[in-house]
Amino acid sequence: MKFQAIKGVRDILPPESALWNRVEQAARDVFHTYGYGEIRLPIFEPTELFARSIGTETDVVAKEMYTFEDKPGGLPPLGPYVPPEDYTAALEHAMRSGQIPDMQSNRAVLDGLKGWLGIMKDELVPQEQRSAAFGNWTATLGHIVLGEQLSLRPEATASVVRAYIEHGMHTRPGNVKLHYIGPMFRRERPQKGRYRQFYQIGAELLGPSDHPALDAEVIEMLLAFFARVKLTGAKLYINSIGDKNCRPAYVERLRSELQKVHEKLGADSQRRIETNSLRVLDSKLPEEQPIIDKLPHIADHLCDACREHYAELKRQLALRNIEYEENWRLVRGLDYYMRTTFEITAPGLGSQNAVCGGGRYDGLVELLGGPAATKGIGFAIGTDRLMLSLEEAGAAATCGLDVFVAWFGAATYPAAAALARKLREQDISVELPAQEMKFGKSLSLADRLGARFAVIVGEDELAAGEFTVKRLADADQGKLAEADLLEYLKKSRTA
Ligand code: HAM
Repeated sequence: MKFQAIKGVRDILPPESALWNRVEQAARDVFHTYGYGEIRLPIFEPTELFARSIGTETDVVAKEMYTFEDKPGGLPPLGPYVPPEDYTAALEHAMRSGQIPDMQSNRAVLDGLKGWLGIMKDELVPQEQRSAAFGNWTATLGHIVLGEQLSLRPEATASVVRAYIEHGMHTRPGNVKLHYIGPMFRRERPQKGRYRQFYQIGAELLGPSDHPALDAEVIEMLLAFFARVKLTGAKLYINSIGDKNCRPAYVERLRSELQKVHEKLGADSQRRIETNSLRVLDSKLPEEQPIIDKLPHIADHLCDACREHYAELKRQLALRNIEYEENWRLVRGLDYYMRTTFEITAPGLGSQNAVCGGGRYDGLVELLGGPAATKGIGFAIGTDRLMLSLEEAGAAATCGLDVFVAWFGAATYPAAAALARKLREQDISVELPAQEMKFGKSLSLADRLGARFAVIVGEDELAAGEFTVKRLADADQGKLAEADLLEYLKKSRTA
């Protein structure tokens, strides 16, 4: 049997992983200058956290989460060989010992199971009824909750807000600024730039103020990071989707306009008219575009406060010389947004060209049980897509091997090993063959590994107290004593 990575997930191998590390480190460095600290979050959380914050009607929650019941081990496997009384007893024990939730509904299920067991074992009851009781026992068993529903995180904003509330971070001075780097999971149809395990670099700002200067600064930080990693051709799109005062009326208006053109829309959009009409604006179907173009724009339906917030955001972007394009259809696929939404596209990505998405989510902390006064804004960059775009533009990682130590003659090995260790102590990367190799083979391997230098340790070199160092790019070579060699290699090591 041959194992392969499952559909939609992949390995990131060296040397590409070195480029990933560089990009992730650049994010840490840039975000640090804006006062963000790293938060490390769990990979899985209660399903309910995502359902509540992202919204049950969104594609992410309705179709794409990897969800499982966190059931305990140790229960006997249910099958024809396990007598129902043993299984019932095992469940009761598991509940008493806290392995499965000791909750009202589970206690009722257990009572029911015992009731049916009583009938099954009662010899005075006719056989027919005792068999029926077994059927009822099995059916009742189906209602037991063995464990909490958990999901692999499809995104991290919900987790950040959960952590913010759990740790009472609203008592910290100023705004709480957090960033995260890591894998997310969505069961989407895999294609270029779309994976089932993908990576995000994200940042969230939580605090008492919703001033648009914060929105603009978050966007500025994002663009500073893109500039640091030399992403070219990125385009920023912005929108405001209003708040709970003005959006409901707009959504109603949109719905009634959509109902008028119901017949002309595809099945997905038809369904969304009722479940999530804003999302119709996201449709990419060519035949729906002329219809969507005629729909009312939210900008014309914002309340005064939202209109002023959006206008100030644009002023704040302008004073930072940030170029943007307004896109009235930018509604985003997650329910927690209000007011500012934004996305950044990058070249070289085909149809999955959004390299980053974000926005304001002022009501989310309250929705999840935190202080109502806390506002929030943030974004997440799709690292896979960022890397694709950078690689298309020519970014390449090198293997980063500095030195290949070629030793000849068994007596030289201790000196070669000692030299390798001293070089490594100076942060120089070294490859040291474990077994002696022929001179030609040794230098050819050094070349193929991409080493920048070969250091030759032979018996002559040992006797003379010098090493031969060869720069592989141009075959320039010379002899150096150990101290000089260390100095020379330190100066020319890879950055
Ligand atoms: P999102 O738009 O769902 O937002 O995802 C952000 C970015 O993650 C996307 O623009 C895309 O680059 C990348 N991405 C999403 N799904 C996939 C996938 N299947 N494969 C590869 N890349 C993908 C959020 O996740 C929000 N939590 C962003 C946010 C933070 N809003 C406020 N704070």
